[in-house]
Amino acid sequence: MDRLIELAVIGGTGLYQLAGLEDVEPHQPVTRFGAPSGPIRVGMLEGHRVAFLARHGEEHSLPPHQINYRANLVALQALGARRVLALNTVGGITARFGPRVLACPDQLIDYTWGRISTLCEEPGSEVMHVDFGDPYTPGLRREVLAAATRAGVALEDGGCYGATQGPRLETRAEIARMRRDGCDLVGMTGMPEAALARELELDYACLAVVANWAAGAGPDVAEVITLQDVLDNVAAASAGLPPLLRAL
Ligand code: HPA
Repeated sequence: MDRLIELAVIGGTGLYQLAGLEDVEPHQPVTRFGAPSGPIRVGMLEGHRVAFLARHGEEHSLPPHQINYRANLVALQALGARRVLALNTVGGITARFGPRVLACPDQLIDYTWGRISTLCEEPGSEVMHVDFGDPYTPGLRREVLAAATRAGVALEDGGCYGATQGPRLETRAEIARMRRDGCDLVGMTGMPEAALARELELDYACLAVVANWAAGAGPDVAEVITLQDVLDNVAAASAGLPPLLRAL
């Protein structure tokens, strides 16, 4: 196995590279589940060995339901990663989570379907019932929050991430239901990634970048969500990511 990777970062929509990563080497491992979304770029950040993988591929060619979540995590683990920080672009549902907010959720609800969401599907594999009461590793969440404080980057502590199937955005009724269910954020890639990380015994936390008000959740209830708004808000909110990651 390669030298330990101190942090693996998985980038979401609009987050295709890691600013400040130096001496980068691309790795293209093929796992027992197939190939990951793209090259895993391993380099140095503030003197620490860090890996970066673009979840949708570097050209954003993979829709959320076709991402090979198992290959991505197994490849990162095989390269020596033990801790994964997932960057997820999301819509905001409740008042604290408006566009351009950064958040570190502490709960999730899974509305996805038809995705391979466990490692137990392999023939002959042991059936696992992993504890998932805290879907994000509390210790890693604390470190992310502390890093944000040190870096002076505003980061909302907590919130419930609702994972939807996509690739379409939600209806206003779906978002109203998710609000009633207790969701604060909505995204398409949070699951099964978090559950697979737990089965693999990887530490895993989510850093959510709010790109838009979810359907009907903002002040203009009939607002149409455009890709341009999403990308503009992600670009603006991402300004906080390099200092936060360096501090982490
Ligand atoms: N819904 C689901 N996923 C998203 C959204 C949204 O409104 N915005 C960014 N990712």
